[in-house]
Amino acid sequence: MIRVARAADVAVMRLIEVAAGRAFADVGMDKVAGDEALPAAELLAYQRDGRAWVATDANEQVVAYLIALWVDQVVHIEQVSVHPGYARRGIGAALIEHVAGWARERGSAALTLTTFAEVAWNAPYYERLGFRRLTEDELTPGLRAIRAEEAAHGLDEWPRLGMRREL
Ligand SMILES: CC(C)(COP(=O)(O)OP(=O)(O)OC[C@H]1O[C@@H](n2cnc3c(N)ncnc32)[C@H](O)[C@@H]1OP(=O)(O)O)[C@@H](O)C(=O)NCCC(=O)NCCS
Repeated sequence: MIRVARAADVAVMRLIEVAAGRAFADVGMDKVAGDEALPAAELLAYQRDGRAWVATDANEQVVAYLIALWVDQVVHIEQVSVHPGYARRGIGAALIEHVAGWARERGSAALTLTTFAEVAWNAPYYERLGFRRLTEDELTPGLRAIRAEEAAHGLDEWPRLGMRREL
């Protein structure tokens, strides 16, 4: 089931992000795998604004989450994380579909995100979900700012790019 996140979900959301991130160690991206989760205060800000969603299992345990923000009048997926114990069951895709519906209802023309170009479960995965790779020239000012921030955090050690799915 997918529902909006509650403040009480934030602690487990952070654990899921760290657990999901470990997959990057398998492809030699130890620095990304070892990254800390987003601060609780930051997740709480998304939650308070109603732009955080969780997926729960049959026991109502939170197993995945997605947070989004508006960037240049378009809904931008900031983070999607699925606990590895629940990966490859369509939960990530279901969260993205859910947010696509939410964004469409609110007049967003598209969904955007930034991701690693060459990691199997990043850009190639999002392409299967209908996103296309944006060229540098196509980045809107807000996306450009996000990419600059990522580069400043050292993420550009591996190719990254912006992606967009029309709604
Ligand atoms: C990316 C992510 C959200 C996908 O969620 P998910 O629920 O596992 O994905 P779905 O079940 O919707 O789709 C599964 C597809 O994703 C891709 N995929 C997922 N995990 C993969 C892995 N470890 N290796 C290769 N491909 C993978 C495959 O295409 C897979 O399809 P398949 O099982 O038929 O081969 C999840 O893998 C995750 O949390 N990853 C770590 C964090 C991350 O990279 N977040 C996004 C960038 S911020």
